Amino acid sequence: MNIDNYLLSHSDKEPEYLARINRTTHVRMLNPRMCSGHFQGRVLAMFCHMIQPLKVLEIGTFTGYSALCMAEALNADAVLHTIECDDELEEFILQNFRGSEHGHKINLHIGDALTEIEKLNETFDLVFIDADKREYLAYYEAVLPKLKPGGFILADNTLWDGKVLKPVDANDNQTIEIMRFNDFITTDHRVEKVMLPLRDGLTIIRKKCANVPI
Ligand SMILES: C[S@@+](CC[C@H](N)C(=O)[O-])C[C@H]1O[C@@H](n2cnc3c(N)ncnc32)[C@H](O)[C@@H]1O
Repeated sequence: MNIDNYLLSHSDKEPEYLARINRTTHVRMLNPRMCSGHFQGRVLAMFCHMIQPLKVLEIGTFTGYSALCMAEALNADAVLHTIECDDELEEFILQNFRGSEHGHKINLHIGDALTEIEKLNETFDLVFIDADKREYLAYYEAVLPKLKPGGFILADNTLWDGKVLKPVDANDNQTIEIMRFNDFITTDHRVEKVMLPLRDGLTIIRKKCANVPI
């Protein structure tokens, strides 16, 4: 048994409706690895149980897997907004949301993240950043003013398959921008941060409260 299987076998099982979405994602999508999957899905659900957010924003829906994991742990009066730019995914995502008893807590916005974030007149308790790696810093700056003091941002893929540790090709903009994001967050005094070696790297960022000098 390898360590990933050991972790999974000592964590909660993947709910059946999510396992179905995971399977159909692998059958129908060109890049199914983008789906959070069993382990990270359980981590996201647990974070939501711990934080008990009332307003959640996800940037990058894909097939809706991670949105449903977070929605599962939200109270009945909480809402999760999720943004996806690929309109061809809309019907599949909505079908997945309809197939879950938690889907009604989710509002899907089809469009470019930066445009849609600007339209959202909300203050968030939790933001999950998981879209275009080249835009991470722009997403961060767009959501930070809309994040409650003490609120959290989770940024996915911050290890980017280990590429952040290696020499980078000059035209590998995804790796360059993930590294720029990681370096920026490290020295940003508006937030506290810790990077976890979870799956492809997950950075937890907490916005400092107003009475903390920034
Ligand atoms: C890694 S996948 C998201 C996976 C999903 N959060 C999960 O864990 O199951 C990234 C998604 O972000 C979307 N995306 C990329 N650029 C975007 C943008 N500028 N605005 C909104 N969505 C974007 C992609 O189309 C893709 O579906």
